[in-house]
Amino acid sequence: MSTEPSRLLVRDLAQLVSSAGQDAPLRGRALGDIELVEDAFLLCENGRITATGRMRDLRGIEGELEEVDGRGLSALPGLVDCHTHACFAGSRVNEFELRAGGASYEELHAAGGGILSTVEATRAAGEDELRQAVARHRDWMLHAGTTTFEAKSGYGLDLETELVCLAAIAAEGGIPTWLGAHAVPPEFEDADAYLGFALGDVLPRASQLAEAADIFVERGAFTVDQARRYLSACRDAGLVLRLHGDQFTEQGAVELAVELEARSIDHLEATGARGVRMLASSDVVGVLLPVAALVLGRPMPPARELVDAGAAIALATDFNPGSAYCESLPLVCSLACTQLGLSPSEALGACTVNSAHVLERAGRLGRLLPGYHADAILLDAPDWRYLAYHVGGEVVAAAIRDGHVAWRRN
Ligand code: NIG
Ligand code: FE
Repeated sequence: MSTEPSRLLVRDLAQLVSSAGQDAPLRGRALGDIELVEDAFLLCENGRITATGRMRDLRGIEGELEEVDGRGLSALPGLVDCHTHACFAGSRVNEFELRAGGASYEELHAAGGGILSTVEATRAAGEDELRQAVARHRDWMLHAGTTTFEAKSGYGLDLETELVCLAAIAAEGGIPTWLGAHAVPPEFEDADAYLGFALGDVLPRASQLAEAADIFVERGAFTVDQARRYLSACRDAGLVLRLHGDQFTEQGAVELAVELEARSIDHLEATGARGVRMLASSDVVGVLLPVAALVLGRPMPPARELVDAGAAIALATDFNPGSAYCESLPLVCSLACTQLGLSPSEALGACTVNSAHVLERAGRLGRLLPGYHADAILLDAPDWRYLAYHVGGEVVAAAIRDGHVAWRRN
């Protein structure tokens, strides 16, 4: 990031698109409302967007200016990934093969594989290795159009490794979430004993590094009562609350999220009509992770029902070594349009404005509007809907962060 005064003009864009209005989170019909400008320009100054519009309305600009030729390209807000597990060591490619042969995720988890095998590898890695891992994953995300990413700890589950992971995430430009209750590590008898340690020893330090806290509420992980204890303590320590809930079974995580006024509940593959109604009449955002559903062969979350009922939803990758080794929000948008029943413009709003809202950055990130952070992506397509249409393609031609071209495809 440069601190020099700077100006960047992207000119002659085929299209420039952004969610309409100024509100966040977007619900119902508003989720799919967009502003589309053809033959457009985008002007950024000192890290902020200062103007967008039609080329014919562009006035002469005096002084130093970096120009980018946007012919044949579309400009979109930089994508915001509000749910990743980007800090880990090791690989679960063996497990991937076992699952391809029929083993289930829950069986592998119960047999000490799954999350706990990544915990072992992450504990064994040094600080430098973990920082490098986050940087590598961040760059993969950037090349797929993600200019802002959240990342969770949760593969350390001891004091030192959890703190190292949170610090590594922040040092590499991510927004850290303390996932102190991801699994019960082997040195503890049970979940309650582990939570005693996590809340007593780790939380006081983790809450200085993280913005939010997260917990995995599921059979074989943590119960709703344990989650209430954990999240209440995290809230008292000043953290925003988030939950992994209803991934495999409904355990009452939606009710708890609403009760505690959590910022989000993420997954929702198993959520039924009652959960949809509860979320719709709450401020809790449903973060949908269709890659995890696809990879684990689970039902897709009820995205259409949630949007139609008036719930706020966001889309994210869930990038992690087990259930979603995928950094691509464009692919998530493709799945949103083909598997979740969302339109391209709803998918766009869900991984820009609404994901920025989950990260408490609405009004600053997620739109191409004057005053917003100058984070944008240029698609290698004359129509922005290629974001979802080009399934698995190298659709992002360049990423702009803080008003600078941070990456460009050769
Ligand atoms: O969001 N479900 C819990 N956590 C992750 C998976 C973590 C892993 O398998 O390593 C998820 O899918
Ligand atoms: Fe996750």
